[in-house]
Amino acid sequence: MAAPEAKPRKEIPFNRSATLGKELQYIAESLLIGQIAGNQAFTRRCEDLLTSVTGVKKTLLTTSCTHALEMASLLLRLQPGDEVILPSYTFVSTANAFALRGAKPVFADIRADTMNIDETKLEELVSPRTKAVVVVHYAGVACEMDAITDICRRRKLALVEDNAHGLFGKYRGRPLGTFGDVATLSFHETKNLTCGEGGALGINNPDWIDRAEVLREKGTNRTAFFRGQVDKYTWVDLGSSYVMSDVLAAFLYGQLERWEHAQAARKRIWEYYHLQLSAWAADRGIQTPTVPAHCDQAYHMYYLVFPDLEQRQDFIAHLRKQNIVSVFHYQPLHLSTMGREFGGKPGDCPVAEQMGDRLVRLPFYNELSREEQAAVVRTALGWS
Ligand SMILES: Cc1ncc(COP(=O)(O)O)c(C=O)c1O
Repeated sequence: MAAPEAKPRKEIPFNRSATLGKELQYIAESLLIGQIAGNQAFTRRCEDLLTSVTGVKKTLLTTSCTHALEMASLLLRLQPGDEVILPSYTFVSTANAFALRGAKPVFADIRADTMNIDETKLEELVSPRTKAVVVVHYAGVACEMDAITDICRRRKLALVEDNAHGLFGKYRGRPLGTFGDVATLSFHETKNLTCGEGGALGINNPDWIDRAEVLREKGTNRTAFFRGQVDKYTWVDLGSSYVMSDVLAAFLYGQLERWEHAQAARKRIWEYYHLQLSAWAADRGIQTPTVPAHCDQAYHMYYLVFPDLEQRQDFIAHLRKQNIVSVFHYQPLHLSTMGREFGGKPGDCPVAEQMGDRLVRLPFYNELSREEQAAVVRTALGWS
């Protein structure tokens, strides 16, 4: 182990939220307008911006990505016993949203290079009960969408993109979020753009747009009523309260309109880590992120994959001693308490099991200064 360094004066957190532009002004404006419930002026501004930047047919802001996934689950009209294939290496909501409707999550393993669902193992998981495939573009690097959309088309399965990491990412030049019947976004504080807690549902399947509006508004046709399309609104379908307050949408709009600035900052951060750490990592058998040439990544995170759990934990502790916070990521869902209830057992998804033990994420946020980042790199290089 190299000689200990001088402690950085302040903690370098894993994530830190900050304003990017006019967020506070817009919150004040929303209060002055006096309409701070959902589906108001700032919500529409966010939805229009997201629709035009991503190229989806329709965007609905939601209270979280989790809730957008629940809407996807309702849109699929899932019945108990239906199956939904999804990666084991993902956040709990990717599975829970579908399990809530009685569906059985069927866990797929991931690729060892991108951490994305292994498209070569997908088709063997399809059964007569399979209704949908859910993909997660891990770290904002696209899944292999040619193969996945082909399987969904041939086997007549719906496709959901959990695009919590991938806003602004592309696959063969086409924006992530435009491949699925629907795609979900997250604006949780750890994401590239945020309003603390928030999300969105992007809808590409034109037959699902009207129903999605109803599901978001507690199962009522309130949105159509406000557009003057019906003279009163009533309970017409299942639904829940998935509408984001316009105060949060005002904050989010301040972030969204600065998206190019945020993405440029994150690109610089990602590239600096990669340049500084790649040779050191290769010498020690540590894996750095793979971004296939046909993918434009979303610069959501920078991660390292250590040879084993012990070394990963030692590295996290080494950074911690220098006041730097790094974190591990998903624990494979097929081995969680709920995952085991759905039949998951050790060995089902070997790559996901390894990555749960071996992957670590470095501090990554829009305002991470070069000085802070240099301290992270120096300290990392001091780990042997
Ligand atoms: C892949 C993935 N899906 C869904 C979510 C849930 O997002 P939210 O916190 O907006 O509900 C997360 C959260 O980090 C995530 O990483």
